[in-house]
Amino acid sequence: MENNKKHLGYGEITYKGLLKISEYIERHKNKNSQFLDIGSGYGKSVRLIAEINYIKSFGIEINAERNNIAKKTSYSNQNGWTNYIYGDILDRLLMLDNFDFILCNNLLFDDITTQKIIDNCKKNSTIFLTKIDGIDINNVHHEVMNINVSWTNKLTKMYKIII
Ligand SMILES: C[S@@+](CC[C@H](N)C(=O)[O-])C[C@H]1O[C@@H](n2cnc3c(N)ncnc32)[C@H](O)[C@@H]1O
Repeated sequence: MENNKKHLGYGEITYKGLLKISEYIERHKNKNSQFLDIGSGYGKSVRLIAEINYIKSFGIEINAERNNIAKKTSYSNQNGWTNYIYGDILDRLLMLDNFDFILCNNLLFDDITTQKIIDNCKKNSTIFLTKIDGIDINNVHHEVMNINVSWTNKLTKMYKIII
């Protein structure tokens, strides 16, 4: 990943878009459920899910500056439940086994990275992706949602995949 910088591009799911994910989590969570945002940027989803869904909420972000800003600006009444990890998900694929709900706004990720993420998610977990081209999802249940994003006023497809 070091030489190709495309994956460092930035855009966010808006609050309205995140609320759709939060509603799904609320309906399907249990007391041990945990959320992970892969490529958590400035940490917006991590705080929102901790504050609304009251589950432990993690972000992993490859860009140090973004991750530091996420930590510094994490003013939340749920700070004990928010965690911002600096790193590359490809170096920590085994951590995926801990999460029931995963957001990965992967529009700029290469297909191999997305496939490795899917292959390491735990059984029955749900992953929300913004791109599934080039991904093998033949054996998994998936649905399309329309969500609000920062880079266009039009609704954008998000793919909800149950592993
Ligand atoms: C499009 S932004 C998504 C921000 C936020 N998660 C959202 O959806 O609102 C994608 C983020 O993924 C990060 N990223 C890209 N490749 C990564 C990797 N291999 N591991 C961790 N983070 C990565 C980028 O630096 C960028 O901040």
